[in-house]
Amino acid sequence: MKTVLVTGGVGYIGSHTSVALIESGYDIVIVDDLSNTRLDLLEGIKKITGKDPKFYEGDLKDEKLVAKIFNENQIDAIIHFAASKAVGESVTEPLKYYKNNFLSLVNLLEQAVSASIPLVFSSSCTVYGTPDLLPVTEQTPVKPAQSPYGNTKQVGEEIIVDTIAANPNFKAISLRYFNPIGAHESSHIGELPLGVPNNLVPYLLQVAAGERECLSVFGDDYNTPDGTCIRDYIHVVDLAEAHVVAVKRMLDGLSKEPYEVFNLGTGQGNSVLELIKVFEEVNGLKLNYKIVDRRAGDVEQIYADTTFANEELGWKSRFELPDMLRSAWNWQKNLSKLG
Ligand code: UFG
Repeated sequence: MKTVLVTGGVGYIGSHTSVALIESGYDIVIVDDLSNTRLDLLEGIKKITGKDPKFYEGDLKDEKLVAKIFNENQIDAIIHFAASKAVGESVTEPLKYYKNNFLSLVNLLEQAVSASIPLVFSSSCTVYGTPDLLPVTEQTPVKPAQSPYGNTKQVGEEIIVDTIAANPNFKAISLRYFNPIGAHESSHIGELPLGVPNNLVPYLLQVAAGERECLSVFGDDYNTPDGTCIRDYIHVVDLAEAHVVAVKRMLDGLSKEPYEVFNLGTGQGNSVLELIKVFEEVNGLKLNYKIVDRRAGDVEQIYADTTFANEELGWKSRFELPDMLRSAWNWQKNLSKLG
């Protein structure tokens, strides 16, 4: 049985990937500092899988902790989710982002390289900035980052490329996520925003649950059919499965290049107003929302060309927007019970 180290394994995408790995027959070791999540999600992983994964609570900036994890476990592959991820916060606290996201990555890479352990890196479609052409392929040029957070993803990828150039036996895959939403069908795990949510779906869920008054739709004067921004929303369970495929690809020696990049989206773009309408329809609810000014830094529209991931990785998203928004609402209802 192969063992995968999942950093940030108690987080949103990390918890869903932990479940997918266990269900695919992997042993996992989780490390998480719990800075942006709660142990409830670890309990959720246990409830869904019936397994109790080995868990280290700690910070990957701590070199000694990282060395200890690799000394105490026979790690075959790494999936690195643990990172700070709020775009706005990264603008006001850039050094927190550079310290956290880079030191963790470098500490992990030192261990990974020394034992040639393959690594999957959580990247983002944010690296494409405002693309000149849609849909976005993996060859679409990377644009200058619009925030320190985005820069940590771009430079993170570059750090990996440079590391591979100097260590030909080391392999990595970067997965560039579009907009992950939704939750596991059990409602035992899902997104757990601490504080005021920045992202559309977590905010919308809190409005639907009566915890916030009104959803602000940021701008309806974009050059799109209904004037609101378009994104490629992808079910977090689909995303989780892509990580399992990426790990297997490297462990089975199927990588075509030592460093590969895949876009993870559905290929389908939806506007903010479309998403609200689907949410209302599938859940039988009316949502209180209003149109307000544009949010600074928002990209008008972006969605993925998924051909490369479909053909080369052999992975395709299965879920559609109604599934995503039904599961998200079920999770929110469960969350309100958890308190
Ligand atoms: N939106 C609203 N109201 C809200 C929140 C969001 O109208 O309260 C709109 C945004 O303007 C945007 C869309 O909903 O048009 C999606 O916004 P999110 O904040 O959910 O997601 P983003 O596309 O802005 O950001 C996501 C990830 C980032 C990543 C970025 C890359 O959260 O980590 O994609 O483009 F960097």
